[in-house]
Amino acid sequence: MRAEDWDRRYAERAQWSDGPNALVGDLLTDVAAGSAVDLAAGEGRHALWLAGRGWRVTAVDFSGVGLDRGRSRPGADRVAWVTADVRTWAAAPASLDLVLVAYLHLPAAETAGLLARAVDWLRPGGRLLVLGHDLANLTEGVGGPQDPDILHSVGRLAPVARLLDVDRLEQVRRRTAAGTAVDTLLWGRRPGRAARTA
Ligand SMILES: C[S@@+](CC[C@H](N)C(=O)[O-])C[C@H]1O[C@@H](n2cnc3c(N)ncnc32)[C@H](O)[C@@H]1O
Repeated sequence: MRAEDWDRRYAERAQWSDGPNALVGDLLTDVAAGSAVDLAAGEGRHALWLAGRGWRVTAVDFSGVGLDRGRSRPGADRVAWVTADVRTWAAAPASLDLVLVAYLHLPAAETAGLLARAVDWLRPGGRLLVLGHDLANLTEGVGGPQDPDILHSVGRLAPVARLLDVDRLEQVRRRTAAGTAVDTLLWGRRPGRAARTA
């Protein structure tokens, strides 16, 4: 989908404004706050939640309408909102403690390139969290995009996982009002010793 299509979708109604995805919340609850980028942040549910927990967050998305909804919410002034295409946007190398990529679905080759670049933005010990619809969702789950080329799978994320010390790379099930959805989770750290902060 193009930015205009997402703008139209967000203009129709709020989509994902109500707090973080449960698994994202669980994984990040005990991680010490630092600097984070929420790539394809949409309405900023994760960026806002992280900022509320003391993170310095940049929320990047190419839908200005989606970001505007995030900007209008309490605590929005603690987030840097950037309207940009994630395929060309970049953070400084080794500058981040967390890159979060939730439910961004690009053609498989673009996803692989983007996530490899995102690993470069992490400090040693910094974390990458990728969560999105799994290929198996087409046959075993509900909702989500129906184009197989843009869905995740453990196999598709394996090359990025090889750049990380991996905590989890697996299919996960998510309950929704319409039934159970199948997602892929990649959760890992950039190798190397984390720099000590005073
Ligand atoms: C399903 S929404 C997920 C939003 C958010 N991550 C969340 O979990 O609530 C997908 C988002 O990806 C954004 N997106 C898709 N392709 C993009 C691109 N090339 N550059 C920036 N944002 C993009 C869309 O605008 C949309 O906000």
